[in-house]
Amino acid sequence: MTTDLKLTDLHPSADDIAGDVLRGLSSSPKRLPSKYFYDQRGSELFEAITRQPEYYPTRLELAMLADLGPAIAAAIGPRAHVVEYGSGSGRKTRLLLDALDDPVAYTPIEISRSALTASAGRLDREFGDVEVLPVLADFTQAVPLPQPSRAAASALVFFPGSTLGNFSRDESVRLLAAMRDTMGENGAALVGIDLEKDPAIIEAAYNDAAGVTAEFTLNLLRRLNRDVGSDFDLAAFAHRARYVAAEGRIVTTLESLRDQVVTVDGRAFAFARGEEMHVEQSQKYSDARFDALAAEAGLRVAGRWNDGDDWFGLRLLRRA
Ligand code: TRP
Repeated sequence: MTTDLKLTDLHPSADDIAGDVLRGLSSSPKRLPSKYFYDQRGSELFEAITRQPEYYPTRLELAMLADLGPAIAAAIGPRAHVVEYGSGSGRKTRLLLDALDDPVAYTPIEISRSALTASAGRLDREFGDVEVLPVLADFTQAVPLPQPSRAAASALVFFPGSTLGNFSRDESVRLLAAMRDTMGENGAALVGIDLEKDPAIIEAAYNDAAGVTAEFTLNLLRRLNRDVGSDFDLAAFAHRARYVAAEGRIVTTLESLRDQVVTVDGRAFAFARGEEMHVEQSQKYSDARFDALAAEAGLRVAGRWNDGDDWFGLRLLRRA
């Protein structure tokens, strides 16, 4: 297989890391944008999180995609153009492409050129019959899809991993609405969602005993020190993850372990001992909460699959 893939560059605006960090540290309570977790080391640590015994979402979603292949294929029909938002290790994509009936094309949409070309190249080598048409773009906006050389019967947006839950409610509605545009009239979206359950199970998943998640969270500070020249002392912050029952979400923070001043871009930010800086949230959904979210974006739940314990779900969305 060839590696010179036809890449569509929609010129997404480059990240303004320093600006985002300064804005976050100037707000009250302080926050850091979670999209900056995933530098090289952050991505490796995240892969390690998905293999921790307490972190159930990845394991359950992979098992579900393997088991539900025939049901998903029947719901989607032949000759789909699979469109993936973001590009991970490709494990889930592989299961989906294997399950579908004669998928014609695969379009990963990614804002990072290196991540995009790496995953597109890998999938291209593995699936000779599927045309790989990567698009460099920001998937939070509607993306015009490249035309495969063989006509597709429908588009299927694939957004696994419960990443939807990392966005605020308003952002989630906007993202689902962008999916609705991208999928077209008779298209669909297959979305992974983490479900409400015993808070102890959720808190354990975000506080693994081996400490990988804590290392992952602190790596954000190491990454910012390198890329924006901040001087966070990694030994003076601690990872915390707590389930907020009223909102149905787990919130991850970095707690300042002493009174301290951090400098970013020549500006000083004072942290009090015990002050918590917000770094990530992960929404856990009930059916009512998710269906209402989808409805707000003009979508309806056309397929609903959970694992045997109702811990994790896959939802097939179509235009309402
Ligand atoms: N965002 C993913 C999730 O909500 C990945 C993740 C797991 C994560 N543990 C984390 C992100 C801790 C930030 C902090 O499951």
